Amino acid sequence: MNIGIDQISFYTSQYFLDLRTLAEARGVDPDKYVIGIGQSTMGIPPPDEDVVTMAASAAVQLKERGALDGVETLLFATESGVDQSKAAGMFVHGLLGLPERCRVVELKQACYSATAALRMAMGLVAMRPKSKVLVIASDIARYELGSPGESTQGCGAVAFTISADPRVLSIDPEAGFYADDVMDFWRPNYLSEAQVNGKYSMLIYIKALKAAWKQYAEESGRSLDDFARFCYHIPFTRMAAKAHQKLARGISDEDLEKVIGESLIYSREAGNCYTASLYVGITSLLDNAAEDLSGKRIGLYSYGSGCVGEFFSGVVRPGYRDALLTDEHQTLLSERVELTFQQYEDIYHYGIPTDGGEHVFPQYRTGPFRFAGMESHKRIYERV
Ligand code: CAA
Repeated sequence: MNIGIDQISFYTSQYFLDLRTLAEARGVDPDKYVIGIGQSTMGIPPPDEDVVTMAASAAVQLKERGALDGVETLLFATESGVDQSKAAGMFVHGLLGLPERCRVVELKQACYSATAALRMAMGLVAMRPKSKVLVIASDIARYELGSPGESTQGCGAVAFTISADPRVLSIDPEAGFYADDVMDFWRPNYLSEAQVNGKYSMLIYIKALKAAWKQYAEESGRSLDDFARFCYHIPFTRMAAKAHQKLARGISDEDLEKVIGESLIYSREAGNCYTASLYVGITSLLDNAAEDLSGKRIGLYSYGSGCVGEFFSGVVRPGYRDALLTDEHQTLLSERVELTFQQYEDIYHYGIPTDGGEHVFPQYRTGPFRFAGMESHKRIYERV
């Protein structure tokens, strides 16, 4: 039975900071960010946008197409959770008016958990082939101001449905996966900024990739030549390039661009989307590939610090382009509003009140939903 991604939708903040603006403010050569890190802009969520509103804004586009009919389970992957108890997906369930007969749960393992959700979703669909699972990955990448990680911030959400006989990408059963208890990147509950040992995190990302790929290759009998394209977890686009160069040693710049270039277009603009990043890459590839990828195999690498890495693959379905939301994604990115450096810092410092009082948040540009305020320690969401 073919099981995989039936429909996929991407959303990011309506605001961005140009990395050249950041470089100027921090006294850094802009080429370090644009060429060395490989990022052009980063999505910055305003005070009334969070992982819930981004997730709902991604998923509502699927709902409007009837793609959520028959969804029995909502798996929400994030490492920017908004509550220690209530799953962020519960708010989305309410905002989208999903049926009462629905399982809702939140998953965490840094940037890896959306892939865990995909695997669990495939298991559920294998047991009940007529059922459908909605997976949403939504995150805000936030580091300390002035730290090396600052240029690798970003935000975004991807919503996708897993079903039998999918329209977009069937997922192969083979996978290589690897876990190691390391402290390369983490965020204690009492901090709103991630802590990271940057260089070490890059080494571990590659170590996990090599182990996962070796296992995948042994299990599947496939080699790199069996793939038309590759999508990686994208903390910043140069990381994906470095990763592929490790697997395909000596690859020319031209061939590297051919096999990963289209998958990096959206991330270069939105920045790191943590759990969503690999899936932003898949969306970017399918939306932007000039070549018809029908029937072609795509290599996929998911990485979550701490750490778990998984190499897996999928085959693009014939006619997949009819199921994509390419125009919506490209319009969203082209209509974003640029922030000045001062506006960026002001938004960064806008803290969520913790006093239990009643607070109404200023209205910025968002998708169809906004995080309107707080009351008695409850988050209030509304439709715009
Ligand atoms: N022109 C062109 N390139 C330049 C340049 C210039 N003027 N100045 C520097 N560069 C290049 C450097 O040579 C370097 O490239 P190479 O690695 O190919 O040599 C690149 O720009 C970056 O420069 P530095 O190594 O000096 O950068 P840094 O140490 O200040 O910060 C970072 C880089 C460590 C990635 C930092 O941004 C960071 O900590 N980011 C967060 C952690 C992260 O994203 N880790 C990735 C793996 S972990 C993961 O994937 C999980 C996750 O999502 C977080």
